[in-house]
Amino acid sequence: MKFLITAGPTREKIDPVRFITNYSSGKMGYALAAAAQKAGHQVILISGPVVLPCPDDVERIFVESAAEMAAAVHKNAVNADVIIMAAAVADYRPAHPETSKMKKMPGDLMLQLERTEDILASLGKSKTGNQLLIGFAAETDDLEKNALGKLQRKNLDWIAANWVKDGFGTASNSLILFNRNGDKFVFENTEKELLAKRMLETILK
Ligand code: PMT
Repeated sequence: MKFLITAGPTREKIDPVRFITNYSSGKMGYALAAAAQKAGHQVILISGPVVLPCPDDVERIFVESAAEMAAAVHKNAVNADVIIMAAAVADYRPAHPETSKMKKMPGDLMLQLERTEDILASLGKSKTGNQLLIGFAAETDDLEKNALGKLQRKNLDWIAANWVKDGFGTASNSLILFNRNGDKFVFENTEKELLAKRMLETILK
């Protein structure tokens, strides 16, 4: 099958030297790409700025911003059988990024932010019959309730719910995997490589 997997953070420019980002290292998405490739699938990995090596025989496309990630995902989604959005995509970006470095001024600075595209929600709307769409939910509160809300609202087949403290930048993660039939699979504190393999086995069973 053809897999499209996203990984890592995005960077939203404030000016040529400053940006808004998050703590995603890309490890979870890269582990999923490696596991899918090892299981014999064709994999395109759309990656935000991270320092990880590309898994063997995986086609990697680097992007920086949420807008670039959206464009790369939409371009490659049409041919994908399975799409997994493990990237931590920014929900907001500076509304007016500066082209020159901003100078310090007396007093505070207000930064106006605007919404980025919710890529996963767009994919949920354009999903074809046989395509499997899998999202992640990173939460600090009400993990199951928030994850199940995202599963429904974004028209997903599966969602992997993880606590922010367990998932971001760590070598291992704890996940609860839900599907739209109400099945629930719990994976406790497992190295991301093994977790990725188990996740794929569960989803493709
Ligand atoms: O990269 P690591 O350090 O290994 O950490 C892994 C991880 C914690 C980043 C990963 O396991 C994870 O949870 N990824 C999703 C992080 C996130 O942005 O969650 P969210 O609940 O804000 O978003 C929900 C879903 O919508 C995600 O699938 C996300 O990719 C997607 N999304 C979010 C915003 C947006 N503008 N477009 C999107 O498609």
